[in-house]
Amino acid sequence: MKGSGLRLIIVALIVTGLYAWFGNAIPQSPWEAPKRKVITAEMTPRELAREGAAIYKKSGCGVCHSVVGERLRASDLSRIGAERNVEDLAAVLYSGADIMAPANKPPANLTDEEITALIAYLQSLGGRPKVRLGDVKAP
Ligand code: HEC
Repeated sequence: MKGSGLRLIIVALIVTGLYAWFGNAIPQSPWEAPKRKVITAEMTPRELAREGAAIYKKSGCGVCHSVVGERLRASDLSRIGAERNVEDLAAVLYSGADIMAPANKPPANLTDEEITALIAYLQSLGGRPKVRLGDVKAP
């Protein structure tokens, strides 16, 4: 039987074609990786602080802390830059405090670079940002 081989190939092509068509017909939602700003060693403390302010916002720090002199669930941070040095800030951010999770763990899940930017921002509250990338040692 000469024709059956050809028929088999045609059937196989049709089946494959149907699968390909069906696969492409499934609607797909576009997936975008979460945007993380690249923090570089060239950034000045002020630039880091600006980035840190955005990180502060998106990390939900404001749920517990105020930066305008109010008492929320936790201490007001409006003068934290004057009150604490880099070591103190790094210690509390990396180890957490009371109900506050370490900043490098969920939910904030920040990188070392982001934590440095956050510290620059905290320094700007009641003081001047001074840290650069590499100044903060993760314990
Ligand atoms: C679930 C509530 C909560 C969240 C969210 C939270 N904190 Fe805290 N934080 C606390 C508590 C409680 C303390 C310890 C007691 C206090 O300072 O009120 C604390 C302490 C601190 C301190 C030390 C304050 C001091 O006077 O020494 C800093 C700095 C700080 N948090 C920054 C942050 C930053 C930055 C974020 C966001 C990444 C954050 N916190 C998120 C509750 C929270």
